[in-house]
Amino acid sequence: MTTLPTSPAAQGSPGSAVARSFLEAFGSEPSGVWSAPGRVNLIGEHTDYNAGLCLPIALPHRTYAAVRLRADRLLRLRSMQSSQKYELELDDVRAGNPPGWGGYAAGVLWALQGSGHQVSGLDLMLDGRVPLGAGLSSSAALECSVAAAVSDLLDLGLLRDDHARAKLAAICVNAENTIAGAPTGGMDQSAALRCQIGHALLLDCRDDSTAQVPFDLSAHGLSLLIMDTRVEHALDDGQYAQRRASCEEAARQLGLRSLREVAFSDQDAALDRLSDHRIRARARHVVTEIERVRQTVALLREGHLPEVGSLFNASHASMRDDFEISCAELDVAVETATTHGALGARMTGGGFGGSAIALVSTEDTQEVTSAVTHAFADNGFGAPHCIAVTAGGPARRES
Ligand code: GLA
Repeated sequence: MTTLPTSPAAQGSPGSAVARSFLEAFGSEPSGVWSAPGRVNLIGEHTDYNAGLCLPIALPHRTYAAVRLRADRLLRLRSMQSSQKYELELDDVRAGNPPGWGGYAAGVLWALQGSGHQVSGLDLMLDGRVPLGAGLSSSAALECSVAAAVSDLLDLGLLRDDHARAKLAAICVNAENTIAGAPTGGMDQSAALRCQIGHALLLDCRDDSTAQVPFDLSAHGLSLLIMDTRVEHALDDGQYAQRRASCEEAARQLGLRSLREVAFSDQDAALDRLSDHRIRARARHVVTEIERVRQTVALLREGHLPEVGSLFNASHASMRDDFEISCAELDVAVETATTHGALGARMTGGGFGGSAIALVSTEDTQEVTSAVTHAFADNGFGAPHCIAVTAGGPARRES
């Protein structure tokens, strides 16, 4: 197990590394460096697009963006992790263009313009230090680092306070949905822009309100272990969209605007009215998962942290059996962690690969990590990557 470095110095000054790469690529200094974190969702999965509740923390892993605005409308986009270079006019940005990671960056400019801001072209160098395809929202970190840079450089004030950050999050969601073509719900961008260090973000997707929930595991001798299965997940492969469509269909059949309107206490009566057993199972996951978020928040606020573990377990079972978004590797990670001392474990993020999380006594993290690593080898899976994380801070200017 590795513990993530949390200070820029320990990460080899990513801010200065990306600024240097910018200089090498474009022949002059950037105007500054901005960063935004990846996220891990503690609980509340596939609830965001159902106007529900979710509870992410920001990761210490961040994406760094060195940026300089241009006087013209050209976008020159580079990444330290990719040989792909993009050069295109802002007016040529549209659904599916540019493809790949460039769409997430260019999409932010497009969406800022669409919401009434005067934007220009830019030169951009990215240093993405959020693991890719691990379900830890590397794409939202990318979008939000660019959005933070453009907001500051154009003096848009969209990092000023939580209200402004919520607006910027919505702009990034539009970029992801429309230009990158991933029909995601918005939790990830809110996490990247609105989480606070040492806290989980209770996000109410019905009205976009938030509350900061203290999340200091170390004070309780606990750790949060991310178990990245290394099975790459993608949000634009149709499975995510199918789950979203099933939830919308369930709400439509019930005559509701969203599944958030199904009260937990009335769920049996409501779910019985759904004809198709699969749609009923999808809806049951959402309704019960929203309730598990409420219970988790209550336990965290009361300081009963170990009890959160059983909610993690119930959440995983719901995603495996009702929402059907787990996979063999995620199930092995969760089962192995819980049988080797974790207080609870669940897959996190969109599903079909990516990462699981486990709540563990700090003294057991090594044991759980090596048990999961061995179990993966025994099952013929590639090696997982296990790391303990703490709750980091939101998008910000670095230099
Ligand atoms: C992905 C999406 C989010 C959310 C989660 C599942 O991370 O980007 O909007 O729906 O999956 O909770």
